[in-house]
Amino acid sequence: MIFQAPRGTYDRMPDQQRLWQRINKVLEEISDVYGYDRIDTPVIEDAKLFSRGVGDVTDIMERETYTFPDRGGDLLTLRPEGTAPVCRAYIEHGMHNLAQPVRLYYVCPVFRYERPQSGRYRQHHQYGVEVLGSSEPEVDVEVIQLAWNILKRLDVSDIKLKINTMGDSDSRVLYISKLQDYLNSKIDQIPDSIKPRIASNPLRVLDSKDPKMFEINNNAPRCIDHINAASSEHWATLLKNLDALSIPYEVDHKLVRGFDYYTRTVFEIVPSVEKSQNTLIGGGRYDGLVEMLGGKSTPGIGFAMGLERVAIALDNTLSELESNTSIKLLIAHIGDAAKERAVLLSSRIRTAGVSAVLAPTRGIKSQLRYATSISATHAIIIGDEELRNHEIVLRTFATHSQETIPEANLINFLSSVS
Ligand code: HAM
Repeated sequence: MIFQAPRGTYDRMPDQQRLWQRINKVLEEISDVYGYDRIDTPVIEDAKLFSRGVGDVTDIMERETYTFPDRGGDLLTLRPEGTAPVCRAYIEHGMHNLAQPVRLYYVCPVFRYERPQSGRYRQHHQYGVEVLGSSEPEVDVEVIQLAWNILKRLDVSDIKLKINTMGDSDSRVLYISKLQDYLNSKIDQIPDSIKPRIASNPLRVLDSKDPKMFEINNNAPRCIDHINAASSEHWATLLKNLDALSIPYEVDHKLVRGFDYYTRTVFEIVPSVEKSQNTLIGGGRYDGLVEMLGGKSTPGIGFAMGLERVAIALDNTLSELESNTSIKLLIAHIGDAAKERAVLLSSRIRTAGVSAVLAPTRGIKSQLRYATSISATHAIIIGDEELRNHEIVLRTFATHSQETIPEANLINFLSSVS
């Protein structure tokens, strides 16, 4: 039997690691600049955390979770999203006692039993942020600006921000009943596969991709017309601030998002040319979630970004960027004495922060071929003559050039080119 990675999962191979390192570095840097602290939560959680937090009749909970009893009989779920776990940790560690709001970020694998296709995996990775303890619209603006800037910083261009408001939980209940009345009045035109959702999760009817629903959904009552004065003011302040920051947005009255916990602001960032599986970032406000999970009433807002989708969007440009900026040396050697010297030299070069790989003991041509296979930018060659003269030969692959320099000058030379 030949084993393969489970369907919808993949191996991240060595030649992709630089791209991922670069993505992770940008994520850490920008989180720091915005004042967010990292949090890591377990991959497994009590299954009830998600059924209560995310909502039982969402697509995720009905069809997509990996849930299993462990050997002790506890029902566990592999994390299908990061917001409920972060709220659980906020409550468990008494973070409401810290100065509010608390700004957190995470980078982690997420598991959903979905039908795999391009950009859709059963194990994907998310970068997410959550701000807990503030209901100010200025925080919504900060979170959206962070989402927008992070994609810009990663060189993902041609993006568009879609935004909507769901109102607070009271207006949401009112709106849902208006929407149900409307959908029931159109019941004859609604496909059978969608009908059950009118009762169980009417908001999801709004973002159905079925062409028969296009007209019906376009004419549906809009949430914004049913929100209370406080939510209306929140929404107006949010839009005013986005305008002031020149962040372009498109109000999409059909944007509802797939979790029950959202209140007020919801948003997504998608490529300008939309396809079905390419939402890069999704997020929103969830003012009732912490309380729903047993904590004190605490407002919250956040987003998560699918890292595989970002990697797909910037794969090629980034590899060009990488090969221009970093240097990697192969230390080639001819003879036993030179090999001893090469071992010491590799160590000195690494201590200076430059990547160095000792060549395998083979003929010099084969050593240099090895340099190509590991994508070395330069090779240092040491033979008897170089040993005698305390020199090294430095070959630069990009220019096919070679020069002999005193060994003592090597570190200075490397810092001048790296
Ligand atoms: P979400 O929209 O379900 O939101 O996921 C966030 C992002 O994860 C999506 O925009 C997409 O880029 C990526 N993603 C989702 N499913 C997959 C998949 N099967 N394969 C690859 N990428 C995927 C949440 O998870 C919320 N917790 C976001 C949030 C944080 N809301 C408030 N705070």
